[in-house]
Amino acid sequence: MTKHKLLIAVISFGLTWAGIIKAEDQPIEQQLVDAMNKVFGVHPGFRANHAKGIVTEGNFKPSPEAGGLSRAALFNGSPIPVTVRFSDSTGIPSIPDGSAKANPHGMAIKFHLPDGADTDMVINSFKFFPVATGEDFRDFLLALAESPADAPKPTKFEQFAASHPSVPAAFAAVSTPDSFADEEYYGIDAFVFVSATGARQAVRYQMMPERVVHLAAADAAKQLPNFLIDELPERLKRGPVTFHLRAQLATAGDSTKDPTIPWPNDRKLVELGVLTIDKVVPDSAEAEKKLLFLPGALTEGIEKSNDPLIDIRDGAYALSFSRRSP
Ligand code: HEM
Repeated sequence: MTKHKLLIAVISFGLTWAGIIKAEDQPIEQQLVDAMNKVFGVHPGFRANHAKGIVTEGNFKPSPEAGGLSRAALFNGSPIPVTVRFSDSTGIPSIPDGSAKANPHGMAIKFHLPDGADTDMVINSFKFFPVATGEDFRDFLLALAESPADAPKPTKFEQFAASHPSVPAAFAAVSTPDSFADEEYYGIDAFVFVSATGARQAVRYQMMPERVVHLAAADAAKQLPNFLIDELPERLKRGPVTFHLRAQLATAGDSTKDPTIPWPNDRKLVELGVLTIDKVVPDSAEAEKKLLFLPGALTEGIEKSNDPLIDIRDGAYALSFSRRSP
């Protein structure tokens, strides 16, 4: 999101507060962050979503194939230092890591490019998104807020899920991993690679661990509240953790604008490189406050697709950052 758009969001937030603009007239980015605050509560200093996390560091080594698809400096062959934040879903900073509500887990990566600029990738363990538009995501969150445990059945959320089949389908496909390192993460939104010759290819990212290990729901519920956050530093003491970044390539006719529709499994997958994580930053709780990962923070050679969620996410993340930063 541009500074201009952020300014509009911040100004209109002030006007709502003054009772001048009604909630439904607010920019959708603001309606989304407000809806998150309604469901999860307001926790000063924390993200409106994915509030609980851990910050790590490492590097990314691109493959030669990646450079053929995109002329981005990210893929030109040299190793790129990275900052990676793993997280639980929800805006609740004390959520138990094994709670079903902590799914999908998140992985946000900042690639520190040779020219001093950064490019980001913000991905999670959903294979596809539950809804296709910002308005539907807002309504999903509001339906959740209006469906406490004692709400009459069918609850507002059950009604929303019944009319949006991708909601139950997306949640049925996620479960708790035994480690942030043993989970696969998906980009969900489509991006466009531009090659050295100007060829354009729509892609979706997949971040694959060395092995995937999921817990049965009953076992997940029995884990200690911080078991994922505590396990990662222990694992890193024994050695680095690696992931393989892949691009799934769209073919003609694959929709790039609907993140609820995964592309068929037979689409070509290209290994883009190996991401190695070797340490947790010394003060993760402080470091995460200063970090803002934006799905639309791209670099020359990687462009946004026509997926409407990318700009909306940029706006919502920037607004959440402005509210959580003193
Ligand atoms: C319209 C759709 C979405 C909205 C409105 C939204 C909103 C948000 C907000 C407000 C935050 C907190 C940002 C901050 O304070 O820095 C956040 C964090 C996050 N979101 Fe989303 N999100 C959306 C879709 C997605 C999708 C599709 C993915 C994965 C592909 C995703 C993955 C994440 C992750 C991993 C984080 C944590 C980032 C970090 O560690 O700083 N979100 N989201």
